[in-house]
Amino acid sequence: MTTPHDLDGLKKSAALKAVEFVRDGMVVGLGTGSTAKHVVAALGEQVRAGMKLRGVPTSQETATLARQAGITLIDSDNRWAIDVAIDGADQVDPKFNLIKGGGGALLKEKIVAASAKQFVVVVDRTKLVPVLGGSFPLPIEIIPFGWGSTAREIETLTSSRVVLRERNGVPVKTEAGNLIVDVHVVRIDNPSAVEIALNQIPGVVETGLFVGRTDVLIVGTAGGAETYLAKRT
Ligand code: A5P
Repeated sequence: MTTPHDLDGLKKSAALKAVEFVRDGMVVGLGTGSTAKHVVAALGEQVRAGMKLRGVPTSQETATLARQAGITLIDSDNRWAIDVAIDGADQVDPKFNLIKGGGGALLKEKIVAASAKQFVVVVDRTKLVPVLGGSFPLPIEIIPFGWGSTAREIETLTSSRVVLRERNGVPVKTEAGNLIVDVHVVRIDNPSAVEIALNQIPGVVETGLFVGRTDVLIVGTAGGAETYLAKRT
């Protein structure tokens, strides 16, 4: 049986491999979550060893970790030129499409991934799935105004249960002041079509589907970190 401690070791091995994609002088997109946390720590070590780099954080949580690690952060008002973004994922399908947003930072994560020249995804092997959905609900960030109607539209479109994300009985607010709903889709056979359709619903800000964005996938396994380059069709 794989313990949480073992899993963390797999995440760390993927993170350490990913840091090899970062070179002196680069601007790095810093993801959010327990795997990205290892990336930030490893980059901090590189900075202490003399590497010059600047980071664009995808959440307040990551910004705090990055500052503690000694990484210089770029103001969000700047027009970034991000060389590489490194982030975790909740699920990865065989085409490297992703579900993200378990930590609620999907909007900034998607903006940063889209702005980066190279998007490197770091996961432990348990995140690999034959088809997206099922064991992990799809997070969608929505505007608070009329959220119930937006949720109903999502329910109709996906024929799935839609649950408002709450913590201690209170709706979770994203950093942009929006809400998150988790959509319990059994399987997402065509992620691209689902992403496009969901984004057409008024009130949807962004979905946790990351389709065709992964350039490099690094998987932490018991035998070490395995690196896969995405095939572009
Ligand atoms: C944060 O909003 C998410 O997209 C994370 O990247 C994702 O949940 C993976 O997190 P872990 O690395 O903690 O599993």
